[in-house]
Amino acid sequence: MVYMTDSAPTTLTLTQPDDWHLHLRDGEALAAVADHTAQQFARAIVMPNLNPPVTNARMAADYRKAIMAVLPDDSAFEPLMTLYLTDNTRAADIEQAHESGMVKAVKFYPAGATTNSDAGVTDLKKTYPALHAMAACGMPLLVHGEVTDPDVDVFDREAVFIETVLKPLMDDIPELRIVLEHITTGHAVKLINQSGERLAATITAHHLLMNRNSLFKGGIRPHHYCLPVLKRETHRLALLDAIRSGHPRYFLGTDSAPHARENKESACGCAGMYTAHAAIELYATAFEQAGVLDKLEAFASLNGPDFYRLPRNTEQITLRRQDWQVPDNYPMGISTLIPLYAGEHLHWKLGTD
Ligand code: DOR
Ligand code: ZN
Repeated sequence: MVYMTDSAPTTLTLTQPDDWHLHLRDGEALAAVADHTAQQFARAIVMPNLNPPVTNARMAADYRKAIMAVLPDDSAFEPLMTLYLTDNTRAADIEQAHESGMVKAVKFYPAGATTNSDAGVTDLKKTYPALHAMAACGMPLLVHGEVTDPDVDVFDREAVFIETVLKPLMDDIPELRIVLEHITTGHAVKLINQSGERLAATITAHHLLMNRNSLFKGGIRPHHYCLPVLKRETHRLALLDAIRSGHPRYFLGTDSAPHARENKESACGCAGMYTAHAAIELYATAFEQAGVLDKLEAFASLNGPDFYRLPRNTEQITLRRQDWQVPDNYPMGISTLIPLYAGEHLHWKLGTD
């Protein structure tokens, strides 16, 4: 990574980053959002929570084709496909997916945890044959780390998941490689720091930039609602410590999750923040606030491919210190999409050269 000056850099050049956690959807939403990600990232791990979910290699191949079809012909963007783990996923499904070369991971949603997770896992033990097959071929399990028990406080669901689901799973299948997705708590940071090479975590820009007060600033803020929900400031500070540490098993995963405006601004609004329009700029903002812009490149561009055992990118991108206003909305089919920080100013901008 190259700075123009030591104290307050005006440009930032880094190896092209990848997004290790992304929702692209399908249909009109896919067409509306895919190019935002392709403009910034070389590759992205594409989440499989469509309706119906992507549960086998054939469906992943079809989804990959649909993604490529909405991108410009000369786009070099590479979608990295995932399968959606269900109680019925068989070891043979994993082996076929691995042999396809195109499926890089499998996503575990506890049933009912979030958007389109009704087909998720009800009893993790039922999936053990599939998980053993993943351990055998080195394919990572990507974990939505929240329990769904309605009696557990919504702000405690990640911590309870770590104790009651994740640690037992790690003991049961020691060879299984795991990414704890979109971590939000000091409990998760402690676990990653204590665990060996088989456990990594993605961190979103929004969980680095905001705490739970942002949900209620001046009134209820549906565009700041996501899952896992924003936590109290002490947990955000733990995430900042994680990125400051330069630990190699934290990496970038936006969890950019587009929903039509009316589905967010509703009596029962959907979870998810849209951040793909300014993903690397948002991370640069967070890393600068944390005083560690020099740690951005490893987090955004190196640690992810190293964990996934994929080559690092060779192209570079340049960010410039430049004031710009985030659009109020983006068109999405017959609706609109409200991006994070709509109408507000950011101070880093991805260069076009
Ligand atoms: O906020 C979220 N939105 N969290 C998730 O886990 C899923 C995502 C979505 O697909 O909308
Ligand atoms: Zn997600």
